[in-house]
Amino acid sequence: MKEKILKLLKENKTEYLSGEYLSTVFGVSRTAVWKVIKQLQEEGYIIQSKTKLGYRLVESPDNLYSYEIQEGLRTKRIGKNIYYFEEIDSTNDYGKIVAQKPFEDGDIIIAESQNKGRGRFSREWVSPMRKGAYLSILLKPQISFEKITRLTIITALAVCSALEDHIQKKVEIKWPNDILINQKKICGILTEISGEVDKINYVVIGIGININLDIEDFDESLATKASSLKIETGKIQNRKEIVQKILSIFDEYYDDFLNDENYESIIDEYRKKSYLIGRNVEVRIYNNDSIRARVLDIEKNGALKVELENGEIRDLLSGEVTL
Ligand code: BTN
Repeated sequence: MKEKILKLLKENKTEYLSGEYLSTVFGVSRTAVWKVIKQLQEEGYIIQSKTKLGYRLVESPDNLYSYEIQEGLRTKRIGKNIYYFEEIDSTNDYGKIVAQKPFEDGDIIIAESQNKGRGRFSREWVSPMRKGAYLSILLKPQISFEKITRLTIITALAVCSALEDHIQKKVEIKWPNDILINQKKICGILTEISGEVDKINYVVIGIGININLDIEDFDESLATKASSLKIETGKIQNRKEIVQKILSIFDEYYDDFLNDENYESIIDEYRKKSYLIGRNVEVRIYNNDSIRARVLDIEKNGALKVELENGEIRDLLSGEVTL
């Protein structure tokens, strides 16, 4: 009911809709309508109310409410259920709780802020209130373990394409899944998996995007490495539109992924957007060793193909790269 009334108010922003009209359209009492209006106002919607005329929506809040994101979202699987939080420890951790009960492929957990946002290598992910997008996509693909890296590839590509389309600036992918603008990190992706050798129970893909963060929001140590869309474009960006774009593009890639289609063109696209190909880098591998190498390519399985200083060619499946 709330969503329906909100939709009608949005469609008629230039006129007042009377309580009587709304109660007839939705077959409820005028008190019920009034309660919904009050609830919407509490959620941050600015609704003018005038005696004899009724209600008019003046402004919507900058919140990533589930019904705001779902409005106009034409996806096959992604975002059919969205769990929304004003504040949470970590959307990935909540994703793992949701996954303990039956859930639908593509359920989303989203929050306006996180107090224990996590990044790769157990780092903190700075998640200030209403300044970024912090979300997790919960999936249960029936696939083999070796194909999991493809999910990382399609997520990075979906975010990269959505951001590029939104801000009309060059956006690059730093293997495996950091998203950069002007060589600074704008978005990070944390993929976590639960499963046994031959069966995947669930995958949680956490996406953190620095959208409207200001320089002061980053720790000093991050100031030279990280940035936000607002800093890079000089404009406040619409968080809802960005999230919707990412979910729509991801939905298409995920459909291809499940049907084993178009992977060649997806990996080609990933290569084109790759920041590292041709660069000399230092790679920290998981036992904390570092190797210097030149990046040659991204392999079909998502591995980073590098040439070591002694000429040896290696495929790295995971690790962290610095320049
Ligand atoms: C990284 O680059 O290290 C990955 C960062 C991932 C951050 C996102 S924010 C939403 C989700 N919840 C978390 O706690 N982490 C991920």
